[in-house]
Amino acid sequence: MKIQIINGPNLNLLGVREPGIYGASSFLTYLDELKTKYPEIEFAYFQSNIEGEIINRIHETGFSFDGIILNAGAYTHTSVAIHDAIKAVNTPVIEVHISNVHSREEFRRQSLIASACKGVIAGFGLDSYRLAVEAIKN
Ligand code: DQA
Repeated sequence: MKIQIINGPNLNLLGVREPGIYGASSFLTYLDELKTKYPEIEFAYFQSNIEGEIINRIHETGFSFDGIILNAGAYTHTSVAIHDAIKAVNTPVIEVHISNVHSREEFRRQSLIASACKGVIAGFGLDSYRLAVEAIKN
């Protein structure tokens, strides 16, 4: 099984950025834990602060991988183009968020990508990604 994890803008700063909200662990440290927990799964990881690069990666893996776990960061709330990219591919995409976007500012409550995704997981810290892996496995 092959799973693509895509992190969007500012998520390269996990561990440093607002640790009270996003935690103190870097994503690469967490990714190592995921790989250890699921040795049978091949994980590909991609992070970009650039909307078009995220779209390109969805196109590149969206016809051959078993699942895409996408934390589009702030593009979640703004990007029709990422919505359209998700709709354009065959691979199911799970929207994830580290924080509970519904308990924060009003503008985070709207997702422009959720309706194109298979499901949404938010608010469980980095464990949101593991829950998404379980969803794809099942
Ligand atoms: C986030 C929530 C978004 O609103 C925010 O812009 C992010 C991170 C999360 O994982 O909680 O960059 O997607």
